[in-house]
Amino acid sequence: MKDFSDYRINYSKYSLLEDEIVKNPFDLFKIWLKMAEDDNQIDEPNAFTLGTVNQKNEPRNRVVLMKKLKQNGIVFFTNYDSKKGKSIEANNNVCLSFFWPSLEKQIIINGICSKISKEDSDDYFYSRPRNSQIGALSSDQSKEIPNRQYIEEKFERIKKSKVKIKRPMNWGGFFVEINEFEFWQGRSSRLHDRIVFSKSKNNSWQIKRLSP
Ligand SMILES: Cc1cc2nc3c(=O)[nH]c(=O)nc-3n(C[C@H](O)[C@H](O)[C@H](O)COP(=O)(O)O)c2cc1C
Repeated sequence: MKDFSDYRINYSKYSLLEDEIVKNPFDLFKIWLKMAEDDNQIDEPNAFTLGTVNQKNEPRNRVVLMKKLKQNGIVFFTNYDSKKGKSIEANNNVCLSFFWPSLEKQIIINGICSKISKEDSDDYFYSRPRNSQIGALSSDQSKEIPNRQYIEEKFERIKKSKVKIKRPMNWGGFFVEINEFEFWQGRSSRLHDRIVFSKSKNNSWQIKRLSP
C-alpha cells in the first residue's frame, strides 16, 4: 500500500468567488446538487454524512439519503429508535456533510432536527417498493441480532404473510431546518474557497469567507 502521506491532489476544476455567490444559499445548494446529479462519477448525489451527539455527549456519523429538499431544509428517513433517532431525541442539533470528490466540492450544514408529520411519513413509506417496506419492518435498526439468518428469516416470514405492510410507528422522516451552510470548493495550492451562509434572527443570510 502506498504511504498515505504521498497522496496529494491539486484541486483545480472550479472556484467559488464572490461574483458567483447568490443571496439565498438554497439556490447555490440546488446548483451544486444539479452538478452532482449530472456527474456520472457520482452514484448517489443525495447521500450525506449525518453527525449527531448523544445523551452522553458522544458524537457519531453515518451516511443517510436526502429524500426531499424543502424551502428551509431537507428530509431524510430512518428508524426513530436507532442510535441516530435516540441521539436526535436527546439533542436535535445535527451536522450534515456532502462530499463530491469528482467535483472537488464539500458542503457542511448545521441545522435543527424534528420529526415530520405521520401523514408525510406514511406518504413516503407507502410510495416505497414492498421489499423496502418489509426491510423497514423487519429491522430494529441499531439493535444487536444473533446472526444474519435471524434477519433474513424475519424478512421472509413477513414477505410470505402477504398482508399489507403498515408503516412501523418508529419509522419515519426527520426534517432538518438549516441555519448554516458552508460551501467548500477545492482550489490549487490549498487556497480553497470557503463561503459560509448563516441565518440571522430576521431570517436573512449573512455571508462570510473563511480562510482555507
Ligand atoms: C449510501 C448509504 C445510504 C444510506 N441511507 C440511509 C437512510 O436513508 N436512512 C437510514 O436510516 N440509514 C441509511 N444508511 C445506513 C446508515 O448509514 C446507518 O448504518 C444506519 O442508519 C444506522 O445508523 P445508527 O445506528 O447510527 O442510527 C445508509 C448507508 C449508506 C452507506
